[in-house]
Order: sequence, then C-alpha cells, then structure tokens
Amino acid sequence: MLYRLARTGLFQFNAEKAHDLAINYLPKLTGTPLDLFYRQKLPNRPVECMGLTFKNPVGLAAGLDKNAECIEAFDAMGFGCVEVGTVTPRPQPGNDKPRMFRLLEAEGIINRMGFNNLGVDALVENVKKAKFDCILGINIGKNKDTPIEEGNSDYLICMEKVYQYADYIAVNISSPNTPDLRTLQYGDALDSLLGDLKAKQKELHELRGNYVPLALKIAPDLTDDEIVQICDSLRKHAIDGVIATNTTLDRSIVEGMKHAEETGGLSGRPLQLRSTEVVAKLYQELGEDIPIIGVGGIDSFVSAKEKLQAGAKLVQVYSGFIFHGPNLVRDIVKNL
Ligand SMILES: Cc1cc2nc3c(=O)[nH]c(=O)nc-3n(C[C@H](O)[C@H](O)[C@H](O)COP(=O)(O)O)c2cc1C
Repeated sequence: MLYRLARTGLFQFNAEKAHDLAINYLPKLTGTPLDLFYRQKLPNRPVECMGLTFKNPVGLAAGLDKNAECIEAFDAMGFGCVEVGTVTPRPQPGNDKPRMFRLLEAEGIINRMGFNNLGVDALVENVKKAKFDCILGINIGKNKDTPIEEGNSDYLICMEKVYQYADYIAVNISSPNTPDLRTLQYGDALDSLLGDLKAKQKELHELRGNYVPLALKIAPDLTDDEIVQICDSLRKHAIDGVIATNTTLDRSIVEGMKHAEETGGLSGRPLQLRSTEVVAKLYQELGEDIPIIGVGGIDSFVSAKEKLQAGAKLVQVYSGFIFHGPNLVRDIVKNL
C-alpha cells in the first residue's frame, strides 16, 4: 500500500530521475524513524551457497545500487543479499540520456545505461562506511574505453580492490550496453578471463587468508550449445557460481509496445520465461556442482519459486522490485 503511493509519486518522473531520487533519499532516511516505511522484519530462511550463509534466498540484482550508496536501506528491507555495481576501475558517465525506459503494460524496463558509475575506489569507500548484515556481492566490469583485448586487466584491478570487502564477487560479461562485452562469454576469451580471475583469487586468498567466491553473470541470449560451453569453462576453472540472467536483446514479447524499439537490454516480466529456461539448462549441465543464482522477471512468490524449481539456489530481483517495492521481498520470503 505504502509503496503503491511512493510509486505513484516516483512514476511521475522519468525512469532514471525516479531511480536517482530513490538512491539519493534512501540513505538519508535509513536509521531515522522514517525508515519504518520500508524496514521489514522477515522470517529467517537460511540458504547455504558458495560457502556463504544467506539469511534468505532473495537478493537485490546488480545495477540498482551501482555505487553502494544504499546497502543499509536494502538490508533494512530484508534482502538476504545486495549485489552492488557494476563497478569499473575508473569512473565513467555511461551512455547519453535518456537511457532507461519503463514498459508499463509489460512491467518491463529497457536500459542502455552503459555502466555509469563513480569508479571502484568510490564504491569501496561507501562499502567501508556501511553497516549491514546481509550478504554483499560486488559486481565488476570493464571501462568502455578499455579495448576488449585488454578487458581482463580491468576485471583484475576491480577484483583486487574489492576482494577484502565482498562476500562474493560477480563478474559481469553480459551487459549488452558496453561494446563487445558479451564476446567475453565465448571460447578462448572466456577461458582466458576465467583463468586470470581464478589465478588472482588464489593469490588474494593466500595473501589475505579469506576465500571470496566468484560468480559469472551471463546473458539470456545464448544458444543451448553456448550454454554447454560456458558450463564446461565454469567447471574447468572451478568457478563458484553462475548468475542467470542479465537483460535480453530480444523484443518479440513486447513488439508494438511504447518504448519497445529503444536500444538496450530488456528486463522484467518479458524476460521471466527465457531466464528460467537458461537456469534449467544450466542446472541440467551443472547439477549441484556449481550453484545457480536465478534472476529475470521475478515479480511474485510464484515466479521466484519457478526459478528455484528450475534449479536456482538463490534468486535476485530488479525490475519486479521497481514495480512492486519491498512487499515483493516479503511475499517471497514469507511464502517459502
Ligand atoms: C536499469 C538497469 C540497470 C542494470 N544495470 C546492471 C549492471 O550494472 N550490472 C549487471 O550485472 N546487471 C545490471 N542490470 C541487470 C539486472 O541486474 C538483472 O540481471 C536484469 O534486470 C534481470 O532481472 P529483472 O528482470 O528482475 O530486472 C540492470 C538492469 C536494469 C533494469
């Protein structure tokens, strides 16, 4: 009810303005009596995954809190996990505005943000200041102006800087809005990236004494054969988890709708079925060996359950949270 009111207000603004207002105000409200509008005490539904204990399986997906400014607010809403980022080594402005669009009738979003973020050092400073008890994932990427052949080094720079502060590190090679990024999902490029990340993880583990798991985030726009190849690489390099999926380039479900022709990645309800299919295919290949985090179009307990039944150990939400607010987290966790 309360979120519906807030949403009516926020949806008067364009999608990015509404997002910025929320990210600006949430840290100011959290810890004051006003946070009772979104603070919720949820039942414990612990899940073991990647060697970590999540208090419940519902996480906030990457991209909403790119600079880790609102971890405490999302923790207060009851998320079992908050994934911040995608962060890049250097700050960058992202693509020209407008770059985020709501597809109201489909409860979808198209975005071509392009990893706008304040850079990894700023993110780490924000994480250091935050007090929270959910699991923290830090999602890393590459700068737009780093040539793709040198992309590995951007991931390694970010990994080194966030290692001490992350419960797990998500490796994003699946945003459609950074030129050529998705080419890292294939063949030798993927092998080389995963090999480098794994070597860096070993080095940092020995140096710092703590093991921080790595999860690879993949696109929904992959053939079954490509998914099988990715699974082979995940096994070969003993990657700790896989996050499926990022946004889609496919527009077939939203054809004819307002904004459907905008360039970028589509998320929300139109992505629900496809991302569940990818989770199911991953599970068929990986079984219980490498845990799957299911994300894409989750907008209710039922759709969260579908991801879990397809083989996901954990789920994440982004668009569904924009349309339904903190109630979505409560509904899923309570009904589990
Ligand atoms: C506006 C917007 C920005 C996003 N930015 C990122 C990002 O920076 N990194 C990332 O890994 N995923 C990003 N995503 C993808 C989401 O994390 C998620 O994988 C995708 O939206 C599917 O989930 P959903 O249907 O619940 O939104 C973004 C999604 C949206 C809508």
